[in-house]
Amino acid sequence: MMEPVNVAVIYYSATGTVHALAQAAAEGAEKAGAHVRLRKVAETAPPEAISARPEWAQHLRDTADVAEAALDDLDWADAVVFGTPTRFGNPAGPLRAFIDTTGPLWFQGRLADKVYSAFTASNTAHGGQESTILALGNTFYHWGGIIVPPGYTDPVQFQSGNPYGASHVTGDGPPSDVSLEAARYQARRVADVAALLKAGRAA
Ligand SMILES: Cc1cc2nc3c(=O)[nH]c(=O)nc-3n(C[C@H](O)[C@H](O)[C@H](O)COP(=O)(O)O)c2cc1C
Repeated sequence: MMEPVNVAVIYYSATGTVHALAQAAAEGAEKAGAHVRLRKVAETAPPEAISARPEWAQHLRDTADVAEAALDDLDWADAVVFGTPTRFGNPAGPLRAFIDTTGPLWFQGRLADKVYSAFTASNTAHGGQESTILALGNTFYHWGGIIVPPGYTDPVQFQSGNPYGASHVTGDGPPSDVSLEAARYQARRVADVAALLKAGRAA
């Protein structure tokens, strides 16, 4: 029997929304039979910025036991699902900072041919969710990745409404069942496609 696929869920979250979506994505990939690593990227904001927002400091404390993403997680993975808050229509700086350390892996061609997908949260409904996910897509192109979006391939996508990737409107409150299910579905689909590729390569 073939080895399960390895799925890394790598995310940044300041106040917990994207963390909740990342946990749901990890569940979805696990349910698809994948080995999963849930990893947060290192915080890069100065301590005074964090302590000025109690919910940010609290979330950092709450997730102290989540392992930090390392290059080995990308190397290990057959598929990577990235999560980030939308910041001015783009991925958050700490996730970009992690991505900016991937040069050596990229140079060796070790980021190519993996499956990639992304999810996000923004405060408002038209606050840049698609542009954030598409911006991450630019990196996936450079890596030679295989981008697997959710599209409208499951009934939950007609409720969540974002074919680019699971997305939650934080201004509406914590992630709803629909947002969480969209994240689960997206990661399940990513794991399924990665498994098909792995089986095809082994054949
Ligand atoms: C610097 C900054 C820029 C932001 N830019 C946007 C934006 O362009 N559109 C939007 O709707 N929300 C924006 N937000 C709100 C975040 O997207 C929101 O706080 C985030 O989804 C919460 O995710 P988290 O709880 O995982 O940190 C911004 C927040 C910050 C701190």
